[in-house]
Amino acid sequence: MIGVGWAGHQHADAYAAHPDVELAGIAGLEEGVRAQLASRHGVERHVARWEELLEDDGLDVVSVAVPTFLHAPITVAALERGLHVLSEKPIARTPEEAARMVEAARGAGRVLDVAFNHRQRGDIQTLKRVIDAGRLGTPYYAKAWWLRRTGIPTLGSWFTSADKAGGGPLLDIGVHVLDYSLFLLGQPRITAVSASTYDLLGSAGFGSGPGMEKSGATGAKTFDVEDLATVFMRLEDGGTLLVEASWAAHRTAGDEFGITIYGTEGGAELIVRDMEEIGSLRIFTDEAGVAAETTLSPPAGTGHHAVVADFVEKVRNRGGDNGSNAVELARIVDACYRSAAECREVRLGDDPPAGS
Ligand SMILES: NC(=O)c1ccc[n+]([C@@H]2O[C@H](COP(=O)([O-])OP(=O)(O)OC[C@H]3O[C@@H](n4cnc5c(N)ncnc54)[C@H](O)[C@@H]3O)[C@@H](O)[C@H]2O)c1
Repeated sequence: MIGVGWAGHQHADAYAAHPDVELAGIAGLEEGVRAQLASRHGVERHVARWEELLEDDGLDVVSVAVPTFLHAPITVAALERGLHVLSEKPIARTPEEAARMVEAARGAGRVLDVAFNHRQRGDIQTLKRVIDAGRLGTPYYAKAWWLRRTGIPTLGSWFTSADKAGGGPLLDIGVHVLDYSLFLLGQPRITAVSASTYDLLGSAGFGSGPGMEKSGATGAKTFDVEDLATVFMRLEDGGTLLVEASWAAHRTAGDEFGITIYGTEGGAELIVRDMEEIGSLRIFTDEAGVAAETTLSPPAGTGHHAVVADFVEKVRNRGGDNGSNAVELARIVDACYRSAAECREVRLGDDPPAGS
């Protein structure tokens, strides 16, 4: 396990609970936090730096839950040592870095997986079953969002530096929104994006999230990523997906994500406020000419426990897509940033990725 922030704790807890996994070592720069996590799970070996942990013989897999600029170097080094890798989202800062990780996995014949725990939520999985059962008919329009009033993961931390994070809320929380939206819609290909991004609040020092302390804060208050992104996406089946992602905006208090979907036979609305375990999920249909509304009570999902269980299964069967879905998401986010910078629609497939 590499990284002992919020994400690292989720991975460590999930591995510790898995009957077929032995948590063999932990790396992370914060000695006290690391020692506490190691003692909670009875792990003897814990070190500061990732390079030291990867030197250990006898490891089979490694989880990478560190700042995004370290995903690619750690993942590639681990794969080259013959380990299977579970990386946190987003897979990397850019599609090019992400592609290098996938190539390394293919070259090493090892599994590379990326943690998208939101699609494992009980409400999302239930909505997926509703859609797959045809209750909405053909979905043609969806709007999905993750918005916070003051939820910048600490001004001046690695999250607010473009160089370390690769982007702001679109890459951080928007990538979850994009992942669960495309999962629900049956993975349609996105053919074009038109985006706008803003940094008016974060760059003015507004919106740092209380209780969201992140590693590496310098006190310098660097903020050179967006604080809000909005994107209009065209889907290959003629449908439309709108995505909004923001860490800070003058809106109702708290944290909210969700999706509304309109289909030919019905509609759906999922709203999750303040990270509640089960969101509000409603289905709208027409019953014999009368408008009907059904409220569903889905079970809670298991988040990172499901992610880790899935990864272990992929390692056993040498299965999975080796990160190619995550690379596609990185390509889409990159196209959104280009669209915003150039004030134009960007067609996916037509334009070379940035920097190539
Ligand atoms: N899936 C989710 O819902 C979710 C939620 C939060 C964060 N994340 C992702 O998880 C990753 C980490 O985010 P976080 O919020 O836990 O960040 P964080 O800043 O709280 O923690 C980062 C950890 O990485 C460690 N680290 C940094 N450099 C290191 C090095 N050289 N060697 C060893 N350890 C090192 C730090 O010591 C720290 O423990 C990011 O990619 C983020 O996008 C995912």
